[in-house]
Amino acid sequence: MLEVRNLAVRYGERSALEDIAFAIGEGELVAILGANGAGKTTLFAALSGLVPSQGEIHFAGRDIRGLRTDRIIALGLTQCPEGRKLFPALSVERNLQLGSYVRRADRAGNEAAFERVCRLFPDLRSRLRQAAGSLSGGQQQMVAIGRALMARPRLLLLDEPFLGLAPKVVGATLAAIAEINGEGTTVLLGEQNAHAALSVARRAYVLQNGRIVLEGPATALRENEQVKRAFIGA
Ligand SMILES: Nc1ncnc2c1ncn2[C@@H]1O[C@H](COP(=O)(O)OP(=O)(O)O)[C@@H](O)[C@H]1O
Ligand SMILES: [Mg+2]
Repeated sequence: MLEVRNLAVRYGERSALEDIAFAIGEGELVAILGANGAGKTTLFAALSGLVPSQGEIHFAGRDIRGLRTDRIIALGLTQCPEGRKLFPALSVERNLQLGSYVRRADRAGNEAAFERVCRLFPDLRSRLRQAAGSLSGGQQQMVAIGRALMARPRLLLLDEPFLGLAPKVVGATLAAIAEINGEGTTVLLGEQNAHAALSVARRAYVLQNGRIVLEGPATALRENEQVKRAFIGA
């Protein structure tokens, strides 16, 4: 469904991603693990057309590199950004609706997507009129994921969804991600919380200094000394 070849991103003189290659099949839940500064957000920005990149990004039967972000979303690739990026003064409902902007003509589809989000995150249903900024961190993360789902992605990118969440809330978020994937949405999960990410992803890539240095099934990576040293012990 997604195949990346020889992808590179530079910020001025500085290389942020180099020689990135990976592929994700339809229906998979794959993690990109990396410490702070490894390049996870840059990778997602490149996939979403938010930063210029070199190389190939094949999705939905074409090379989407260089396309505008709204075109990429319309093709079925949507990201839930790091740090949620909600509009805190707007209601939960309005924040969710903003996610369906590229599909605004499809009223019936929007209603179905809205029902899906309320079913996945029942906590939000009673808070639709509240300002998003008044919610707890975990609830705000639900709004952010819900907003991404309103675009009806075939491939959902989640950039550090567990950041700043209490362990119990991480558990609830993990369950929601598993359910979303179980319903057929392919998921790419960027995380530095390797322990949480590997509990839900079936396989993963490890990003270090802008390069993929390791890849394999989650079961193997959980036991990998390099991964343990870099993330799980930390
Ligand atoms: N807008 C930017 N301009 C210059 N350098 C950046 C910019 N964004 C990120 N970087 C640098 O690129 C590298 C990768 O950052 P980032 O993609 O945010 O990593 P991660 O999401 O894994 O923490 C870091 O060294 C970071 O300092
Ligand atoms: Mg990041």
